[in-house]
Amino acid sequence: MRLPGLIDVHVHMREPGAIHKEDWDSGTAAALAGGFTTVLAMPNTNPPVTDAAGLAVALRAATIKARCDFGLFVGAGPDNTDQWAHLKTQIAGVKLYLDQTFGSMRLDDMTLWMDHFKAFPEALPIAVHAEGRTLAAVILMADLFQHPIHLCHVSRREEILLIRQAKDKGLPVTCEVSPHHLFLSTADIQRIGSGRSEVRPCLAAPEDQAALWEHLEIIDVFATDHAPHTLTEKDSDTPPPGFPGLETALPLLLTALHEDKLTIDDLVARLHTNPRRIFNLSEQPDTYIEVDESASWEIEAQHAFTRCGWTPFEGRAVRGKVAKVVLRGRTVFENGHLKTLPGSGRNLFPA
Ligand code: NCD
Ligand code: ZN
Repeated sequence: MRLPGLIDVHVHMREPGAIHKEDWDSGTAAALAGGFTTVLAMPNTNPPVTDAAGLAVALRAATIKARCDFGLFVGAGPDNTDQWAHLKTQIAGVKLYLDQTFGSMRLDDMTLWMDHFKAFPEALPIAVHAEGRTLAAVILMADLFQHPIHLCHVSRREEILLIRQAKDKGLPVTCEVSPHHLFLSTADIQRIGSGRSEVRPCLAAPEDQAALWEHLEIIDVFATDHAPHTLTEKDSDTPPPGFPGLETALPLLLTALHEDKLTIDDLVARLHTNPRRIFNLSEQPDTYIEVDESASWEIEAQHAFTRCGWTPFEGRAVRGKVAKVVLRGRTVFENGHLKTLPGSGRNLFPA
């Protein structure tokens, strides 16, 4: 089966600052192996990407090493509202961290949110990490300033119900759900281990997980929130939150397809068409993937391209495998092997 190249609008590449977890080479290799031909990378690197200089550092690494196409987010900080007018054509969007996360980019003061909303150029996509009541607050802000927002990794029943109401009223919101919130819940924590299960937003209750599946029509995008940390870090006394996800998203979703939980149109809309629309990405006609939908296999971290060395889905039986990836006319991945070199990925937002 042929599908368009998948687009992941939420990944953490860890470069600069933590390339022992992942870098632009290993991360984009994982993307291709998972069927993703475009990734949009988050700014919570070290140092974080919050201005033109920081963007240049991250872009240099991405340009040298990426094997798939990419765009970068810049984070909204306490004193960078002056950046947006100038950076708007060079970035995939702005990231607003309004709740607890990995790194130090959280904005608590709502006057700062308002300063940013006043400064955002019209067409610039705004991706928001907001949970629970913070989600309600930022939906109000999007309405007050009439600027669309994209809500990241929605995980709970109360959140998806609120988003349904907001969409019913015509408010300018879209949302994404991550595969780990569709395929894991608090019921899996004991099996995975408590440190390894740490992720933000946390794994939710089985009722929350069921509510996401019940409201599939409200979910615009599936995004992995690929957030690699090493096994040593995850098994330490202070486990950082985050799961790798690029190589397991499509097999898990194809397995759900096989189980009639969603259709192929549902899948393509959320992994390609809607991400492209929400983030203003151009169509790439010679970019597609070939999927062997009947291949049965078990997820194993040791066969993955991500550098982090583990997956919360270890041993899970899945059905459906990426057989081939073609990026702008060139075969870049085939039968488990990379066919492309670092640096062949393209910046989709060149200055
Ligand atoms: C992310 C990370 O490790 O960068 N962790 C996570 O649990 N999702 C942070 C984030 O996505 O906010
Ligand atoms: Zn994230």
